[in-house]
Amino acid sequence: MSKIKRIGVFTSGGDSPGMNAAVRAVVRAGIFNNLEVYGIKHGYSGMIRGEIKELKSSHVSGIIQRGGTILKSARSQEFRTEEGRKFAYDQLKLHGIDAVVAIGGDGTFTGARQFSEEYNIPIVGLPGTIDNDLYGTDFTIGYDTCLNTVVEAIDKIKDTASAHDRLFFIEVMGRDAGFIALNAGIACGAEAVFIPEVQSHTEQLKNYLEEGFRRKKASNIIIVAEGDDAGGAYAIANQVKEDFKEYDTRVTILGHIQRGGTPSAFDRVLASRLGVAAVEALLDDQKSVMVGLVNNQIVHVPFSKTIKQHNPVDVALIKLIDVLNV
Ligand code: F6P
Repeated sequence: MSKIKRIGVFTSGGDSPGMNAAVRAVVRAGIFNNLEVYGIKHGYSGMIRGEIKELKSSHVSGIIQRGGTILKSARSQEFRTEEGRKFAYDQLKLHGIDAVVAIGGDGTFTGARQFSEEYNIPIVGLPGTIDNDLYGTDFTIGYDTCLNTVVEAIDKIKDTASAHDRLFFIEVMGRDAGFIALNAGIACGAEAVFIPEVQSHTEQLKNYLEEGFRRKKASNIIIVAEGDDAGGAYAIANQVKEDFKEYDTRVTILGHIQRGGTPSAFDRVLASRLGVAAVEALLDDQKSVMVGLVNNQIVHVPFSKTIKQHNPVDVALIKLIDVLNV
């Protein structure tokens, strides 16, 4: 029998569609297992300030389809300090919380690992980020929805690009990872993608554009991940413009539209499975692990691994873009 009676749950870092579905799953799985569940608002900042309230089943009713997070999110500088973490621990104790589910990305897990080690409090993580960059899970909560949002937006841009025979550089999110850019590139039939994992090949792009211009393609779409080493969509577009005055060029930064919206069915199911698995992991005395999905099976990956390693993109997919562009 586990000694855990009351658990806390919070969302932290960049929000992602499906976080609400994950919160709902944690609350309901907790109640199903006779636990009390407390929601902590504004991530670690709210933990420090004691923004902590009990969540009953009815509090998470009607949220599975909502983007954003009812628990709000934040990136806390204070939690990086010893003093901040001490305040946070005192608040957890004051509210009688024995264990915590943390929903977020690698910044969230870095804090969780340190906190758990310092105060011996069990914490289990759920991968919540649009970037899909967490090691130890095939998919993060929110990535599928984000990818679909990006594809829908780029399809629309392609219409106008083709109407004016324009060359578009479209910047998508992904500070350190190219999953969104690469897979949107395949799904939208982009001419090229620029991602942080691969050194930029602006020269190669220029050769391609020369060819493409001769072939008069209907539209030319280049997708750039914000973290690409060439410096983002504007920087690449400026380099290319100098040599290709004949192209009418435009730049679109998709921005935070990528983080919002109703979660896809895939993200809702993923969040529900992982949320239930997180509570079960805590009851199983697991700590400092992220619950993920690999080959459609639930896995538990130590924070130490998810933090140090990156989910690798399949670089062969870049080749696919070239093949599909002949
Ligand atoms: O980590 C998710 C993410 O959306 C990144 O892709 C992006 O670089 C970052 O968050 C943006 O963060 P903020 O909303 O704080 O500007």
